[in-house]
Amino acid sequence: MLKSKDLLGLKQLSAEEINEIITTAEMMKMVLDTNNKKTSHLQGRSVVTLFYENSTRTRLSFELASKYMGSVSANISTSGSSVNKGESLLDTARTIDMMATDIIIMRHNQSGAPHFIAPHLKSSVVNAGDGMNEHPTQALLDMFTMKSSFGKIEGLKVAICGDIFHSRVARSNVIGLTKLGAEVSLFGPPTMLPMGIEKMGCKVAGSVHEAVEGADVVMGLRVQLERQNQSLFPTVSEYANFYSITQDVLKLANKNAIVLHPGPCNHGVELPTVVYDSPQSLINEQVKNGVAIRMAILYMLMARRNQQ
Ligand code: CP
Repeated sequence: MLKSKDLLGLKQLSAEEINEIITTAEMMKMVLDTNNKKTSHLQGRSVVTLFYENSTRTRLSFELASKYMGSVSANISTSGSSVNKGESLLDTARTIDMMATDIIIMRHNQSGAPHFIAPHLKSSVVNAGDGMNEHPTQALLDMFTMKSSFGKIEGLKVAICGDIFHSRVARSNVIGLTKLGAEVSLFGPPTMLPMGIEKMGCKVAGSVHEAVEGADVVMGLRVQLERQNQSLFPTVSEYANFYSITQDVLKLANKNAIVLHPGPCNHGVELPTVVYDSPQSLINEQVKNGVAIRMAILYMLMARRNQQ
């Protein structure tokens, strides 16, 4: 059972809660593999996605997850809503809350936005990515993918390479993976590595080769040009030369290593298409696991609401 009515970050979840979400997702994935994906776990309940930033995977997987489990679901984004008339975040959230909404799934460009609205609402709030802070449901689906491949998280060596500075995915993964006993190495251009990130319990490697050597999991991160006011590396081709997870780099990882990327991917920058499409790549499987993990989260939040 989840302790909080909201899922705001992996910082707020215990190792037991993370493990319970992953175990529940294993069952949800079995549902996805059947011809009848419809369950009644959320029947009569309502789920709203409120997205202030673009999304394909997170938004659609939450929408499908809620529909597969029988809820009434609706979407609202900045374009076409009263946000564009200047309505505040809190007024927008309260308006959705007052429509008897059970769960609000929110993505926002400001770190801490879901933490700000959650205490004011009866609805449960799920963080679908807040600024450069956390993307907890992505890290949960990443850990679910790792557990499905290796049967465990504890003791795994995970290399996370790329734009660490802007990456809420990296932050959530470091928090979650270290809670579950994995060893995390980070590597990226010096301008994209936050000072003191080692304090989160991970290592910082000196090169992409050092990060990937002996790794069980190699995760590429998207270069987030939309969050850069100035260029943090000389050119895209130089980035690819020094930081890309190429086939040669991947040879340094463990024989059974898997490649992950949260998507969307800049092909030829974070990694070449040949690595993206290689048998070691579980990037497409991550998308499917994203639906299962989001079904698990909705199920567990609703179970908690049913107890109240
Ligand atoms: N990984 C991820 O958050 O993708 P979207 O931006 O497409 O949701």
